[in-house]
Amino acid sequence: MLSPARRLERSSTQFFASLNQQVARLQSAGKEVIRLDVGSPDLPPAAHIIQALAQAASRPDRHGYQSHNATPALRAAWAGMYLRLYGVELDPEAQVVPLLGSKEGIFHLSLALVEEGEFVLIPDPGYLTYTQGALLSGGAPYYLPLTPERGFLPDLASLPPEVARRARLLWLNYPNNPTAAIAPPEFFVEAVEFARRYDLLVCHDAAYAQVAFDGYRPPSLLEVPGAEEIAIEFNTLSKSHNMAGWRVGAALGNPEALRLLYKVKTNADSGHFLPILEAATAALSGDQSWLEERNEIYSRRRDLLVAGLRRLGFAVESPRASLYVWCPVPDGWSSSEFAAALLEEAYVSLTPGVVFGPGGEGFVRITLTQTEERLAVALQRLENWISKGGQRAA
Ligand SMILES: Cc1ncc(COP(=O)(O)O)c(C=O)c1O
Repeated sequence: MLSPARRLERSSTQFFASLNQQVARLQSAGKEVIRLDVGSPDLPPAAHIIQALAQAASRPDRHGYQSHNATPALRAAWAGMYLRLYGVELDPEAQVVPLLGSKEGIFHLSLALVEEGEFVLIPDPGYLTYTQGALLSGGAPYYLPLTPERGFLPDLASLPPEVARRARLLWLNYPNNPTAAIAPPEFFVEAVEFARRYDLLVCHDAAYAQVAFDGYRPPSLLEVPGAEEIAIEFNTLSKSHNMAGWRVGAALGNPEALRLLYKVKTNADSGHFLPILEAATAALSGDQSWLEERNEIYSRRRDLLVAGLRRLGFAVESPRASLYVWCPVPDGWSSSEFAAALLEEAYVSLTPGVVFGPGGEGFVRITLTQTEERLAVALQRLENWISKGGQRAA
């Protein structure tokens, strides 16, 4: 009989794997489910990116193994993007490590840097891979509550110094998943000072840095002077360029941390498909104007969703970035009960906040990755469900 390794017992099976099964069950019973749960962009990348992939894929000399470090052109394109967007100069050889999607690097980083029992500081609620990486490397997650009262920024000053001294990594993520909160530049300065004081590495996950509305431009943590001495940033084309299935990301910043991450990587994968690397280079260095138009589409969806939810009595904030609306659940419901009832009775699928940690209880996460028409249908279903008494009394 196979028994799981102990380290795996501490790791949970992804929530979305079991949600997919429930949705498949409803669909096979003829129900048409509107999925506002997973944060996968519904729109395609720009045509020039797809053409670059198709042209490269049709060449006979593009199908072999590639370097773990991708290509010089792709590393230069990531560095070029940081210079263009943030005025941050990075050395493409020492300060850019291409990844098979940022999740790969986020997961592997703890293996490179965390010793058994050392703390990894993780936002609660937060993206689950910070915890899974910490656990599988033998580290101890230590959660930093994100609360509405503090604008979903962790209170670094109140962290016990004995905990901070035993911590190796501090994870941050703005624009934030799941709360859609944004961070003011002063917070990044505070995080860099905190990391210097306690000699730990700040890891900023910038997955949503180019999904922003109303003229807002999310900053990079690497803009803080001296940040590259104690910080790395994770970036990805998944959300920024509608390329989630392509698996193209990068870690950027501190050369020593990147060297160690790269060492793990070289043992775990064998590079990427060259046509994808070439098309990703085109995505990063070619025309970017379509991103503005894409963000306009998201912002119209956001307006529709926020107005509809408010009309139904939900006190939601209107997000300035990310793919999410973080919505309080009605009194008397847990987030899991509320999401399960909406799925089973109204065929609208949301993510319960508690999936992202205990600090997410009381909220559900709703994505902007459906058309305005579909969002309007989802709102209508929610309204019908409420009017039929679906909403429990407080
Ligand atoms: C906060 C955050 N970080 C990282 C990722 C991983 O993105 P990818 O591996 O596609 O680059 C996601 C994906 O949903 C995310 O929400």
